[in-house]
Order: sequence, then C-alpha cells, then structure tokens
Amino acid sequence: MIVLKSQREIEKMHEAGKVLASVHKELAKLIRPGITTWEIEEFVDDYLKKHGATPEQKGYKGYEYTTCASINDEICHGFPRKKPLKEGDIVTIDMVVNLDGALADSAWTYAVGKVSEENARLMEVTKEALYKGIEQAVVGNRIGDIGHAIQTYVEGEGFSVVRDFIGHGIGSTIHEKPDVPHFGLPGKGPRIKEGMVFTIEPMVNAGTYHSKMDGNGWTARTVDGKNSAQYEHTIAITKDGPMILTSQEDI
Ligand code: MF3
Ligand code: CO
Repeated sequence: MIVLKSQREIEKMHEAGKVLASVHKELAKLIRPGITTWEIEEFVDDYLKKHGATPEQKGYKGYEYTTCASINDEICHGFPRKKPLKEGDIVTIDMVVNLDGALADSAWTYAVGKVSEENARLMEVTKEALYKGIEQAVVGNRIGDIGHAIQTYVEGEGFSVVRDFIGHGIGSTIHEKPDVPHFGLPGKGPRIKEGMVFTIEPMVNAGTYHSKMDGNGWTARTVDGKNSAQYEHTIAITKDGPMILTSQEDI
C-alpha cells in the first residue's frame, strides 16, 4: 500500500530535509585528503544532536552507524572507518535524518581533492541522472517513467545503472512503498499521485552494473572494481510538480 502524506506531514519532512541538506553543505567544506569517514561520522552525529535531530539509520535492521560512507568501488552501505581518504578518491555519504518523527534521506558523492576526469564525469552524470528522474516525478506519470529516464540518460553516457538497490517511499519509516527502480520501462509501475513521498537515488557505475556483497553483509561494491557514484533526494509529489525536500539550494 502506498501511503499518501498530508501537507502537514510533508512540511515536517521538509524540516528534516533542511537539516540533512545543511549537513551535506558542511560536508562539502570538510571533505579533503586526510580526513577519515569515521571523523565524518562523528561530525554528523554531533551536528544532528545540535539541531535536535536523530540518526535514523543507526540501529536500523542492525546497521550500527549514522552514515553510510562508500568509497570508490563501494556502491552503497560502506561503514565509516578510520582509514584516511586520499586525493583522487570519491566518497558517497548517505544518511537518514529524523526530526520530530519525520524522516528525510539524502546521499551525495564528494570528490576528495582533485579527482580524475573519469571520476568527475561519473559524478556529473550521476547527479544529472537524479534530476532527469525528478523531472518525471509528476502527477499522472508512472514510476517506470522515472527509471526509464535515468537509465536512458546514463547508458547514453556510457555508464551503467545499479539494479540491486533502488529508491523507496519514505515517511515515518525509512522504507515504504512504492519501490522506485532507476531502470525500466516507461508507462509501467504505479501511477504517481499527489502526496506521495519517495527517494530517487541512482547509483551509477563506471563499468558493469553488477554488484557483490562484502563479508560484512552490508557493503555492496562493483564486481569489476570500477568506481560508483550516487546522488539521492527525498521528493514529495505536489500538484505543482516534484518538491525536493532535501534540496541544498533553498537553505
Ligand atoms: N539511506 C539508505 C537509502 O537510501 C538506507 C540505508 S539502509 C541503512 O535507502 F541500513 F543503512 F540504514
Ligand atoms: Co539514503
């Protein structure tokens, strides 16, 4: 069942989204060669506390951290750790913020110092893919239109879209209906309605889309060792179009 949210609920999720967006803006300043993802984790913990918010991922299905920190060939759900990031790495920081019971979810990939042209292009294409998906998130379209737009664009750029992890509805819990794949066919899937709130979070690989699971049971990485990037927003469907609840632009 897809739960539609009231305007009041969407406003609360937007408040959570603003806190999350401001964390990402801080991380953009903080992330440079030498910093560890453990320090990033501690910074985020502290920041959320100061803003009266809590980290929803911590304890979720046994996940132990506030953030997921996925470096280079790690696709998602990397654990924060004490190894310093080095010049040329790319790192995706993903988190879910809870403010007064309302959630918002957003991931962002950061360049560590100066990165290769291929990494820079991977990041750019992935971010653009997110916005191509968001454009399709309008009343009357179907969920498949989102994935189709993302897949067509990404493959046209010579990269691939991860199949094993997808976007999802979100509200008072992290994962709700609908499922939002970043690949697929136009005109398929549930019809998009006013009041839906879901994430769009394409993971794009420089090589093949196939992923494998690390021994820790959480971290997915590319099978060919090539890099992966991800950008994620939480969006609400309004009659005037998609509203980005985790936008870094309006705060
Ligand atoms: N933020 C993630 C998402 O985009 C959820 C992470 S799962 C967790 O769907 F276990 F790490 F919380
Ligand atoms: Co996320």
